[in-house]
Amino acid sequence: MDPSLVQFHRQYMQQVQNPTFPPGKYLLDGNVQNQIYKHFFDGPLKGPPAYQRKILKRIISLIESAIVDPDEDAVIDPLMEHMGYLSTLPTLPPAEAACETQIITYTLPEFFDTPAQLTPRILIEEAPNLLAAGSNVGLRTWEASLHLATYVHANSNLVRDKRIIELGAGTGLVSLLCAGPLAAKQVLATDGLPHIVDAVEKNILRNHRSLFSGDAGRRMPIAKQLDWGDVQNLEEALEFDGAIPEYDLILGADITYSPDVVPILAELLKVLMMEMFPENGMEALIASTVRNEKTLAVFREACRQRGLVVEDIDFECPSGKEQKGLFHEQAFPIIIMRIRVR
Ligand SMILES: C[S@@+](CC[C@H](N)C(=O)[O-])C[C@H]1O[C@@H](n2cnc3c(N)ncnc32)[C@H](O)[C@@H]1O
Repeated sequence: MDPSLVQFHRQYMQQVQNPTFPPGKYLLDGNVQNQIYKHFFDGPLKGPPAYQRKILKRIISLIESAIVDPDEDAVIDPLMEHMGYLSTLPTLPPAEAACETQIITYTLPEFFDTPAQLTPRILIEEAPNLLAAGSNVGLRTWEASLHLATYVHANSNLVRDKRIIELGAGTGLVSLLCAGPLAAKQVLATDGLPHIVDAVEKNILRNHRSLFSGDAGRRMPIAKQLDWGDVQNLEEALEFDGAIPEYDLILGADITYSPDVVPILAELLKVLMMEMFPENGMEALIASTVRNEKTLAVFREACRQRGLVVEDIDFECPSGKEQKGLFHEQAFPIIIMRIRVR
């Protein structure tokens, strides 16, 4: 496949709302249209009907506007027929669509010339259109997670052979990436809410065969409940296969969004780094979407008061059009903080 089509396909499998469509002139080619039909639309429904409809409508319109000779150029029948079929399917009301879960395929940002079946991917069941906050906020993979995943993927030495605790893991994408393709030694994926922990567990099992069954050195992450305010039960939460490992890295994405909880989070980081694992040179990498500078300032100050140093990492993620996988937009800036003991 041409790189522009590979990128478009990866975006489609991740249900990216504004993918990079190849130009109409390229889509005019009957072979290209056949490939699109086969890989995007043929067989069991690939993606929810509303999403397929939106993408196919745009593909058809790009092809139609590129037609020069109507006797020679056309939209192939299977694409037109599929559009007809999709338009017979019901559309969910917006409130239901926002909570509907889908299986999203995240492809790692690796070369476009790797055959599709060899390109590492992570399957995550989630509600990609979730907007609301509240107790379901972890049922969607947020941009900060994709940003942190892109960063550790590009700097895999930070993760390889490490014993990792992820805080507020949400859907578990970052933990799965670290434990699987990035070969961390042990990964504990934690979240404060039992139903989110259940969802992480399901996502771990969903990827068992593709990420963990062939390579004996890779260990599946373990999902556990860990509420940041519950330091009394920390030891139990940190157990992994019956013992507490010498954890040396903490990861977290989009967990600094509430001014009420950031002091609790800073306190937990202090307990982990200075009291429980003081010998391990433990660090935390926290990715935050900067929606509110004030909340971040409260977090930084709470860390500082506890003897922790917070540094912003200089990381330029490729722009949307240049991304090869783990696609994410940055409507708000996303930063990654490195936190360590002073
Ligand atoms: C915005 S979501 C981010 C999820 C995931 N890291 C991502 O970026 O896609 C915040 C996560 O933190 C969890 N969380 C919020 N407050 C928490 C607390 N006090 N203790 C533990 N987890 C908490 C939520 O359940 C949710 O999964």
